[in-house]
Order: sequence, then structure tokens, then C-alpha cells
Amino acid sequence: MALKLRKLSYTLGAEVCDIDVGAPMSESVFGEIYRAFLDHGILLLRGQRITREQHVEFSRRFGELDRHDALPRDRRKDYPELLMVTNEPKPSGEPSDTKYTGRQWHSDMSFTTVPSLGSLLRCIAVPEVGGDTQFANMYAAYDALSDGMKHLVAGLHGIHLSGTRRLANATTGVERAEEQVRINPPVAQPVVRVHPETGRKALYIGEKVRRFDGMTEDESRPLIDFLVGHATRAEFVYRHQWRKDDILVWDNRCTMHQALGDFDETELRHMERTTVLGTPSGYVAQA
Ligand code: SIN
Repeated sequence: MALKLRKLSYTLGAEVCDIDVGAPMSESVFGEIYRAFLDHGILLLRGQRITREQHVEFSRRFGELDRHDALPRDRRKDYPELLMVTNEPKPSGEPSDTKYTGRQWHSDMSFTTVPSLGSLLRCIAVPEVGGDTQFANMYAAYDALSDGMKHLVAGLHGIHLSGTRRLANATTGVERAEEQVRINPPVAQPVVRVHPETGRKALYIGEKVRRFDGMTEDESRPLIDFLVGHATRAEFVYRHQWRKDDILVWDNRCTMHQALGDFDETELRHMERTTVLGTPSGYVAQA
């Protein structure tokens, strides 16, 4: 069966049409989906009315799943393979710890030495308007650099920190931030990564990078800001407007993403994510 694909943007992404990830799927159909994932960086699967078990089961076809030991407060207690991204208040009425998850440009789990291969985010509730997610094509961003800049960044390692920029909660938010720093020491990752399956070079940078290894923050900041700004130029970005029951699958090795706060915070935005483990990369470093 040839997959029916529809491009999502000039730079990135394809919708896989007429597919039900909850139904039995042959190896050959999954092989085509995986090929499309490598080719397009992001896949959109609409109208997937599936259970949490089916989300986890389909995700396992991409590889072994992370149980989110690096983010223990953010995973579901009943399904450690599912990471919550929700603004639904806690039963106590306190704000959700994951209310601001993903608001910085990042690639999932870059702050660990086993950064993610890919993620599958399922939309369970979405505000009437907004709550979009943006994705940047990091192959295209790398390819568009001048030879001089490619040469400059070739040997650099960026030091990635865990945590979000904004905390939702004055007490548990601070505890969560401290716990994350304790569990996840800073990790240096190459600024240019070779994708282990396609062999293509991609920029590996984002707003979780504090400085370059061997350089001060002041020295690093202008180049970090340039690279993030360059990679997120409109021509390298796809902006996804969510619908309930969408699943987006993205390749963390050649894309980065950012959840936007462009919505009415009194409306529910609830997403659940599986995270597929990647291959080891980077080393523990000093902040
Ligand atoms: C994430 O960074 O994994 C979450 C993205 C989103 O909520 O749109």
C-alpha cells in the first residue's frame, strides 16, 4: 500500500492521510510511515481517537520508550511512558507544573546523554484558538549557514540545561525546578549533529543552551542568539494548529520545537507525549 501523504509546509512535515494507528498495522505499512518520518521530519496523523494504551503501543513501533525518569513529576503515575503537558490545575487547585512546558525552543531530552529519537504528542484538549506548536527544520538551518559559520560551529558543544523558563507554581514549581537540576546535570551536546539514520548534518541548538563548552556565557550568548534566530526564520518553520485527536510525530534529531502561549489560559490545553529513546550523545559538563 502506498501511503497517502500531504505536505504540511514548504520546509517540513507531511500529513499521513487515511490512517488509523489504533488498528492493526503491518510491518510494511509501518515501514512506509517510518520512511516518511525520516523524509519529512514531522508527521501529522489526524482524527486518532485512541486510548492511552494504543498511544503507547503505536509509539513503541518507533523504538524503546523513555519512562521519563529525568522528569518524574511530569509523567503520568499510571503510565510512566506518558509525559503530561497540561494547564489543567491539580486536584488541590494549584496550577499544573507542566503549564509552561515546552515554551522555549528545544529538542526533547537534549539535556540528557540519551537525547530523544522522536516524540509523539497527542492532543486531548485544545483551546478554541491558539495553543499552536512551532517546529524548525534544523537540516535546512545548517545547510543555509555560510561555509565560514559551518567551520566555526563544527567543533563547538552547547551546554544544555533542563527546566522551563517560567514556573507555574511558587512552591511545587520551585521544588520541581530544583529536582530537575539535581537529577539532570548540565550536558554538552555537539552544535552540529550527524543524523544517525540519514547521515545528514543538522544544527543542534536551542534556548536551553546556556553557553558553549570552554567559553563564558558572555562570549557564547551572541552566537547562541544568532543560531537560534537563524534556525527559527520563517522559511525554516512549520506552525501547527492543533485539532483534538491529532497526533504529531517529530524527529528530535533534525527538528526543534516550541509550544506557544498564544491562547486564553482559562481554556484547557491538554497534551500527552511519548518520547522515543535515541542513541547516546554528549557528555556531562559544568553549568
Ligand atoms: C513539548 O515540548 O514536548 C510540548 C509541545 C507542546 O505542548 O506543544
